[in-house]
Amino acid sequence: MLTLTADPSTPTETRPLDQSELVAEAKRLKAETRALVLAHLYQRPEIQDLADFVGDSLGLSQQAAATDNDLIFFCGVHFMAESAAVLSPQKTVILPEPKAGCPMADMVTPEGLREMKAKYPGVPVVAYVNTSAAVKAESDICCTSRNAVKVVESVDADSVIFIPDRNLAAYVQSKTKKKVIPWPGFCPTHNRIKSQDLTRMKEAHPEAIVLVHPETDQAIMAQADQIFSTEGMRRFVRESPAKEFIIGTEMGILHALQRDRPDASFYFPSGDEQICPNMKSTTLRKLVLAMERRGPVVTVPEDIRLKAKRALDRMIAIQ
Ligand code: 13P
Ligand code: SF4
Repeated sequence: MLTLTADPSTPTETRPLDQSELVAEAKRLKAETRALVLAHLYQRPEIQDLADFVGDSLGLSQQAAATDNDLIFFCGVHFMAESAAVLSPQKTVILPEPKAGCPMADMVTPEGLREMKAKYPGVPVVAYVNTSAAVKAESDICCTSRNAVKVVESVDADSVIFIPDRNLAAYVQSKTKKKVIPWPGFCPTHNRIKSQDLTRMKEAHPEAIVLVHPETDQAIMAQADQIFSTEGMRRFVRESPAKEFIIGTEMGILHALQRDRPDASFYFPSGDEQICPNMKSTTLRKLVLAMERRGPVVTVPEDIRLKAKRALDRMIAIQ
């Protein structure tokens, strides 16, 4: 597997596939399996290039829910593939690198959430999609960074518990009159973006527009011109007449930005610190292996799935 016979007459002589052969093999297997390949905007360029759809968490969950394909290769992190499995139990959802998790999602457990709910009886829980299905099952409605304000506004209550991202919670709080009670989680990658680095970058490129993700620290958001989800950033850049942008999110987004705006320059204030190791753990080689093996499949116990689906369906219904 994943080797080519150098010469068919000498079948023992094999070598690993090189990059172009991996691309060709992935395309062949994709056509053979008639699978849908979904990729988050933080994925490696070669994975994004192979995907049928590249997008943010909201776009990917909408695609997963709407597709007729029975087989989905989800190039992202575990909670994303799990959400697809929750929404479409009849489909086979494969996460090529099963260890691709999200440290922020791991910061809240169902037990911890139940304790918080006991402290605020009757207060609805809004769960960022960056949570496990078991945590979603304990929540009232899900949100992504693109629709978080809209979701919180849609809830019929004056207060909400917002899990797990304290920074996204603070961003939502700045946009709503409702009381947002945050869980103290955070994204390690976005929180490595330093305020001093951003200040220096702004001084070096005074014409640049500063776009940051709401998972960044509040000090970073305070220095930004615009705050967007990854897809929101992509749309803004596409339509903007500006030629320079300072980007406060994971570096994988650069591939899509450069493709859309080859005439523009993009600067990442904290450089390699803005790389999420989990998002980069899916490689082309692992995708090809997953296509060959049709696994590893992501599954969710049915009782949890049904409860988590309710929270996801409520989010999808308000788009
Ligand atoms: P969005 O793509 O929804 O903006 O999410 C960012 C993220 O960190 C996903 O893990
Ligand atoms: Fe999780 Fe942050 Fe990585 Fe997104 S970028 S998967 S939120 S650790």
